[in-house]
Amino acid sequence: MSKRKAPQETLNEGITDFLVELANYERNVNRAIHKYNAYRKAASVIAKYPTKIKSGAEAKKLDGVGAKIAEKIDEFLATGKLRKLEKIRQDDTSSSINYLTRVSGIGPAAARKLVEEGIKTLDDLRNNENKLNHHQKIGLKYFEDFEMRIPREEMLKMQDIVLEKVKNLDSEYLATVCGSFRRGAQSSGDMDILLTHPDFMSDSPKQPHLLHQVVQSLEECKFLTDTLVKGDTKYMGVGQLPSEGGKQFPFRRIDIRLIPKDQYFCGVLYFTGSDIFNKNMRAHALEKGFTLNEYTLRPLGVTGMAGEPLPVDSEKDIFDYIQYKYREPKDRSE
Ligand code: TTP
Ligand code: MG
Repeated sequence: MSKRKAPQETLNEGITDFLVELANYERNVNRAIHKYNAYRKAASVIAKYPTKIKSGAEAKKLDGVGAKIAEKIDEFLATGKLRKLEKIRQDDTSSSINYLTRVSGIGPAAARKLVEEGIKTLDDLRNNENKLNHHQKIGLKYFEDFEMRIPREEMLKMQDIVLEKVKNLDSEYLATVCGSFRRGAQSSGDMDILLTHPDFMSDSPKQPHLLHQVVQSLEECKFLTDTLVKGDTKYMGVGQLPSEGGKQFPFRRIDIRLIPKDQYFCGVLYFTGSDIFNKNMRAHALEKGFTLNEYTLRPLGVTGMAGEPLPVDSEKDIFDYIQYKYREPKDRSE
């Protein structure tokens, strides 16, 4: 999961920018995830709006834009700024918390704790490394690199390396690079790789070696450089393309998840996103009497109890069960 989102380039950039800034403030400083989601959703519908918004009332007609956001849009259109944001930006505690959450491994709670201890800048972090766990130390080490988006061209090269190594280990592996890359994005925040193998099913014993041998192979060829977290089914780490003509590539965040074969396509669907598309699809599933998550699709009984997982052999199966028109990954921004 990456934190930096691609910049919104639209006619209404000013509005979407301030909505995203408010969203981050609610998540990082207030830990108000519902407000975060509300601002994100409004930013996403406005980003798609084909003409320049001239009033809050006009924006309010869009699904996801309520009265309070409409008011803020009016204020922004009239004055070119937002008092609420100006205040937040001036507030030292808020801006420090917001800033520290940009370090991989430092979430809103850890950031608040550090700021309360007077640790507010990258230099403060460097002088207090003893207060950081391993993940946060690596996050600090590669702070600048992790802030940079990954051009699609580099994602394609990294994909080649990963798929090649996986196939060489065992041709029965199935691996998919998901996230914004799979949706066709021109740049990505990180690389989200899903991995499965026919030997691994949800009712079979754990098979951590299926993940670990892939990680090991990618370490041996020097693609993976650092480990953040390595569990039985989830690896989070750092990767770097081999240098070309003396040119070094930045270090990139790489996640690899090992998923049981019978849950693979629910996983691929979920990790392809976008998060807003996922929410909408889950809501549609509920309307049709199903519950959908990153693992399974299950029918809901009359009492609202979820039944046994339905067999799923492709993403399309999931769309079909819930009577949702199939959408290619590139059409899943919301
Ligand atoms: P991310 O890597 O955070 O998102 P992304 O790949 O779409 O964007 P980026 O280029 O910035 O990396 O997460 C991968 C997918 O996981 C995301 O597309 C959808 C899913 N997801 C959710 O559904 N909800 C969430 O809260 C998060 C963090 C991810
Ligand atoms: Mg991603």
